[in-house]
Amino acid sequence: MNDTNRSAVQVAAYLQQHETKGLLRFITCGSVDDGKSTLIGRLLHDTKLLFDDQLAALASDSKRHGTQGDDIDFALLVDGLAAEREQGITIDVAYRFFSTEKRKFIVADCPGHEQYTRNMATGASTADLAVVLVDARKGLLTQTRRHSYIVSLFGIRHVLLAVNKMDMVGYDQATFEATVADYRSLAGQLGIADVQAIPLSALKGDNVLAPSASMPWYQGPSLLQALESTEVSHASADVGFRMPVQWVCRPDQHFRGFAGTVVTGSVQPGDAVIALPSGRRSQVARVITADGDLERAQAGQAVTLTLADELDISRGDVIASADHPPQVSDQFAVHLLWLGEQPLLPGRPYWLKIGACTLSASVTEIKHKIDVNTQEELAAKHLELNEVAYCNLHLDRPIPFEAYADSRELGAFILIDRQSNATVAAGTIDFALRRASNIHWQHVDVDKQARARIKAQEPRCLWFTGLSGSGKSTIANLVEKRLLAMGHHTYLLDGDNVRHGLNKDLGFTDEDRVENIRRVAEVAKLMVDAGLIVLVSFISPFRAERRMARSLFQPGEFIEVFVDTPLEVAEQRDVKGLYAKARAGLITNFTGIDSPYEKPENAELVVNTVECSTASLADQIVDCCLRSPD
Ligand code: ADX
Repeated sequence: MNDTNRSAVQVAAYLQQHETKGLLRFITCGSVDDGKSTLIGRLLHDTKLLFDDQLAALASDSKRHGTQGDDIDFALLVDGLAAEREQGITIDVAYRFFSTEKRKFIVADCPGHEQYTRNMATGASTADLAVVLVDARKGLLTQTRRHSYIVSLFGIRHVLLAVNKMDMVGYDQATFEATVADYRSLAGQLGIADVQAIPLSALKGDNVLAPSASMPWYQGPSLLQALESTEVSHASADVGFRMPVQWVCRPDQHFRGFAGTVVTGSVQPGDAVIALPSGRRSQVARVITADGDLERAQAGQAVTLTLADELDISRGDVIASADHPPQVSDQFAVHLLWLGEQPLLPGRPYWLKIGACTLSASVTEIKHKIDVNTQEELAAKHLELNEVAYCNLHLDRPIPFEAYADSRELGAFILIDRQSNATVAAGTIDFALRRASNIHWQHVDVDKQARARIKAQEPRCLWFTGLSGSGKSTIANLVEKRLLAMGHHTYLLDGDNVRHGLNKDLGFTDEDRVENIRRVAEVAKLMVDAGLIVLVSFISPFRAERRMARSLFQPGEFIEVFVDTPLEVAEQRDVKGLYAKARAGLITNFTGIDSPYEKPENAELVVNTVECSTASLADQIVDCCLRSPD
C-alpha cells in the first residue's frame, strides 16, 4: 500500500469511527464580555482539533490583536470575522465543529448584543442544548433572561449554566451558588427542566476540560464532560410519518416522485398515506434514494417517494401517514419573537414560511407581550424589535401542521416582510384555534354575477389614496355623481364618515390605520359582492394595506387612484385647518408631517389636481372604471 492509499484508509477508518458517534448540537449564549468566544476557543483548542496551520495563525494573530499578551487569545479563534476583531464582539452565528472520543459537536456561537437576537433564534431552532454563560461577578443580566426565554421558546430542554470568570471572584463557592439559585428560579418560570451548573474559568481553563484543583468544593463534571454525557433525545414526539414535499420530480411522463426529508416517523412501500392539505389518499410504491430503493426510511432521511396513484401534490404539501394524519388549520395561537426593524402591526399581511410552504399570514390579535425580565404578561398593540408575544395568527389558506412541542419542522415558522423580503419574526405554533374548524362557508344561491347582472354593471372598487386635503373626497364625490347620473349603482366610503361609525374606536397610530384600512377593505369587498361600484376615499398611507385591499378582489376589479397632490399644496389649501394644528403640535401622527405617506408604485391611475380640473379628472376616472379590463 502506498502512502496515499494508507492515509485514505486511515481517513476512512477515522470517519467510520466518528460516524457512529452521537451528535450534539448546542448553542452558547451570554452577554458581551461573558467570555463565550474564549470558552469555545478553548474547547476547540484543548480538544486538539485545531490544525497546526490554524494554530500558527492564531499565535501570530494573538500577538497582533489579542488581549492576552504573549499567551494565545482563544477568543480570536472564534471571532473569525474581520469586523468582529475590530469591534471585539461576535456578530454572526458561527457554526463550529469538533469532536471527542465520545461525541461529535456542532456549536452555534450566538452574539450577545440585543440587536443580534435574530442570530440567536437561528442557532436555537436547531440546538439540543444551550450553554448559558454568566459572569460570576455580575450574575444574571437582562441578556441572560432574554436568551433563556428564547432557549425555552425554541424548545431546548437542556441548559448547562456556565458560571464563568470564577478566578475573578477567588473561586468563591457562595458566589457561584447565589447565581445558580437565581438561575434555577428563572428556569423554573420558563419551564426549562434540566439545568446543570458548572463553575469555571474559560481563561484559565478551570473545569473546561478537566475538573479544576482550584475549586475542590465542586464535585460535578467539567463542561466538556457534561457536554459529552448529557442525554438529549432528538426524537420529536411520535406523531406518525410526515414528509413535507420539497420538490416534485418529473423527469418524464412515466415518473412522478415527491422529494423531501422525513421529519417524523418512518415510511415503507405499501404504507397508506394522505396528501395534505388536499386530503387525497394513496399507497407508497417506492422509497428511493441516490443509493437505490429502501425498505424503510426513518426521520432525518432524504428520500423520493412514488405513489400507487397519480395524486396532484405540489411543493409545500405534506405526505403523511393516512392512519395518523396531522391536523390542518388556518388559524393558530403562536409564540412570536419579533425581529423586524419596523414594528409588527396586527392585520398587516406578511409572508409565512413553514416547512417547504410559503403563504400569506397576518396577526389577528396580540394576546399579550412578555417582559423577558419578569415574565410578566403585558398588553400590546404592536411589537417592537426583539419583543416576544403570544398571538393569534390567520393564514390565507389551511396548512398541515404540528404543535412545535411535537415537531420542530412542522411547528416552527418565520415571517417575512413583503416589501423588503427581510425575515421579521420567528415563531412556534402552540395549537390551532377551534374557531377555525367551527366556521364554515355557507353556500348562497344568489351570487355576485347575479347581483351585478340585475344592476347592468360590472362591480368595481375605485380606491382613492392620497394625503389629507389632496382632493380625494372632492373627486370621488364628483365621480359618484356622474356614475349615478349614468344609471349605475354606487356607494362612497369616505374616511372621515366611516370614522364616525364603524371605525369610531380607531385613532391615527400606525396600528389603528392598518385596522382602519382592513375593515374598510372588507366592507368594500362586501359591496362589490353586492354588485355595486364602490368608491373608497381614505388616506390609506401604507403600501402593505393597499396591497392587502387589492388582494381581496378579482383581477381588474380594483382600481387604485393616486391623488398625487404635493404636501405643500395640500398644506396650503388646508381646508379643515388640520395642517396648521399639526404644525403647531396640537395633532400628532399627522400624515405628511409626523406620520409617513408611502406613494403608490403601481396605481392604475395617477391624477394631478394642480394641473387638471376636478371635472376632467372625474371624466378620466369614470372612463377607466367603465372600461372592461383587458
Ligand atoms: S387613514 O390614514 O387611516 O386612511 P382616514 O382616511 O381614515 O386615514 O382619515 C383621514 C382623515 O382624518 C383626514 O382627512 C383628516 O380629516 C382626519 N384626521 C384627523 N387626524 C388625522 C391625522 N393625525 N392624520 C391624518 N388625518 C387625520
